[in-house]
Amino acid sequence: MNPHTISDDKIQAAVALLQAGETVAFPTETVYGLGADASNPLAVQKIFEIKGRPIYHPLIVHIAAASQLSVWAQSIPDDAWRLAAAFWPGPLTLILQRSSQVPNEVTGGQDTVGLRVPDHPVATSLLRAFGGGIAAPSANRFGQVSPTTAQHVHDKLGVMVGMILDGGPCHIGVESTIVSLVHGDAVLLRPGRLSVEAIEDTLNKKILLTQPISTKVRASGMLNSHYAPATPIEIQPADELWIRAHQLANLGYKVAVLNLSDHKKCASSAAITRFQMPLQADDYGRELYASLHRIDHANFDRILAEALPATPEWVAINDRVRRAAQGTTNETRILVRTENR
Ligand code: TXA
Ligand code: MG
Repeated sequence: MNPHTISDDKIQAAVALLQAGETVAFPTETVYGLGADASNPLAVQKIFEIKGRPIYHPLIVHIAAASQLSVWAQSIPDDAWRLAAAFWPGPLTLILQRSSQVPNEVTGGQDTVGLRVPDHPVATSLLRAFGGGIAAPSANRFGQVSPTTAQHVHDKLGVMVGMILDGGPCHIGVESTIVSLVHGDAVLLRPGRLSVEAIEDTLNKKILLTQPISTKVRASGMLNSHYAPATPIEIQPADELWIRAHQLANLGYKVAVLNLSDHKKCASSAAITRFQMPLQADDYGRELYASLHRIDHANFDRILAEALPATPEWVAINDRVRRAAQGTTNETRILVRTENR
């Protein structure tokens, strides 16, 4: 038997908790979500308390099937039905005009709502048994790295969560692609495994790309410091990666290198640990957050990530690695200046 198969009893227990207004963490194909009954404002408030998330950051409502779209959204454009038919269940979140059913607590007071049908047997069982929508952000503290295993959720949120359903490691490992369809155009708010090209092919039109940082749309995925590990992270091109690693090691830093290309000559040393990352984008995406969690646990002083290819299949991963590195940039400049003195 698959060790991650979940018994009906566990699903029923999770449903009972959701009905009682408690939280349940559950696996999806992207990352683990921290769920609560989307129609219960008090339950939704618990998510914000547990995450330490500002209340104006809207949550995604997870539903069992596209047929439930009209419960949560209104004025649904044809493009939404087309994308839902093509990609649900799957790693796509649609931003639509919200219906009167959606509490303000879910949308942060906005008149739009994020909706998604996840593609994971445990999420599907839970949603079908529950029947309603489950509001769920990634099951991490605000601004930290998303969890891709039940253990990550346990380590970070532990006893605060009503129940954690263990469905094994997430298959994709990077959060869903978010597309807004509220103003006629299709606008990409967050890149994910589902590519812009696949969406454009389905819609037969171009989708608009937002700037990485937008002050107008309140998507926390757009904050600079989002998805950041506790350990500062820097991105370095392949040919400077090991020079920089040794420079930091000489300063007494314990360095973790997320290395993509094969640097046979550059072995790990006492101060430098090499994490050989997969060469394929999909595999890299699946392992990225798990590697960052592992590094955070092991008390490294610095992560050096080898710069990634700029090809389409790396877009979402580049986005997450860059965001993770953003908080480090200024501090690194200061460090480099003092070193050079
Ligand atoms: O893959 C995923 O999307 C995972 C799994 C659990 O489904 N969920 C996830 O949720 O990543 P969260 O809350 O960590 O990120 C969802 C993003 C946030 O940046 C949020 O601000 C944005 O979606 N969002 C949700 N509703 C929105 C809305 N109405 N308008 C604009 N952005 C919205
Ligand atoms: Mg998140």
